[in-house]
Amino acid sequence: MKNKILVTGGCGYIGSHTVVQLIENNFEVTILDNLSNSQENVIDSIKEITGRKPYFLKCDLKNLKHLENILKYHKGFDAIIHFAAHKAVGESVQNPLMYYQNNLTGLINLLASAKKYKIDNLIFSSSATVYGKPKSLPISEKNKTQRPSSPYGNSKKVAEEIIEDLAAASKDFSAISLRYFNPIGAHKSGLIGELPTGIPNNLMPYITQTAIGLREKLMVYGNDYPTKDGTPIRDYIHVEDLADAHVKALSRLLNKNQESNFEVMNLGTGNGFSVLEVIKTFEEVTQQKLNYEITQRRAGDVPELYADAKLAEEKLNWKADRTLDEMIKSSWVWEQKARKQS
Ligand code: NAD
Ligand code: UD1
Repeated sequence: MKNKILVTGGCGYIGSHTVVQLIENNFEVTILDNLSNSQENVIDSIKEITGRKPYFLKCDLKNLKHLENILKYHKGFDAIIHFAAHKAVGESVQNPLMYYQNNLTGLINLLASAKKYKIDNLIFSSSATVYGKPKSLPISEKNKTQRPSSPYGNSKKVAEEIIEDLAAASKDFSAISLRYFNPIGAHKSGLIGELPTGIPNNLMPYITQTAIGLREKLMVYGNDYPTKDGTPIRDYIHVEDLADAHVKALSRLLNKNQESNFEVMNLGTGNGFSVLEVIKTFEEVTQQKLNYEITQRRAGDVPELYADAKLAEEKLNWKADRTLDEMIKSSWVWEQKARKQS
């Protein structure tokens, strides 16, 4: 019998790539999403890639009654992968309550309903932002977390603490929190990818939108950091490698291979690239000239952030091995296809 998995936020960027790999690994997938930052036609693209259509439930996690009714009716989930959250850092600074309400009330409602309907396994989407400004590099899970600089980041830190408390109180409940570094790239088919609404905050969608002519130029936020070329260094990871890690983490939970019922793991490549290196690689692999300008630092940015990814390698038997070239190429293919469709 197939394991039944509930994927919240499964229409979104990382969720949709994970749903593809879950289906390819023979899981029965139900997506729960309120479509606040995604579109339902992603489900058709998932079907086009995999040949199977996941079930879809439109629901807002903030609506506890609706959520409980759904779980009462759709019984028998073996695990939840919880992607659903708001994720725009700047917006969270402007409107912190909206972020705490969506990301924390949503989580608490989900955990309470899961408890009521006996769904004991959870994978949570966390972020390297929980490390704040790191004191040493690479960052391993042993590094202490610090208060992140934004309400978005703090919602991830508090969410992890809530899940940890629940795991301590209930031995039947098991969770793995996956701390993503910088996910970029798109599915090799070019059928799914990241489609930010409005002006992108993150580097890669800003680059591809500039190259395609939607934005006039990319602003590089600072070249006076203590790094090799003065621009900040990040650990970019291909979204398909990230999705693969979720499938492996899920197997670890379902096979009860965990060493404790709350685990955290970094998901990164362990390699850091500067903003200028990303730009140069983009220009090389796509043969597009990028219009960019160096400007002032962006508030809240840290100079350097890259993972010690050994724990996930060892515990999940997983490695992020797609290269920066592949990440950039797939982002570019996706951008071009997405603009043709819209
Ligand atoms: P995304 O916005 O593309 O996907 C999130 C999905 O959740 C969307 O489809 C949205 O409609 C849905 N959603 C939001 N609030 C909801 C609610 N209350 N009820 C139901 N559905 C809701 O984001 P993503 O990039 O795929 O990120 C997925 C997860 O990973 C998020 O939790 C995010 O914070 C985390 N994360 C993302 C990154 C990144 O760079 N993309 C990095 C670290 C962590
Ligand atoms: C940001 C968030 C982080 C979140 C992650 C994924 C901040 C401070 N951090 O990480 O909490 O988990 O996105 O959503 O916002 N850059 C430019 N020009 C641009 C955009 C970015 O130079 O137009 C630079 C940034 O200064 C940074 C690097 O590119 O050095 C990567 O930026 P970004 O993609 O936004 O990711 P993070 O800042 O690492």
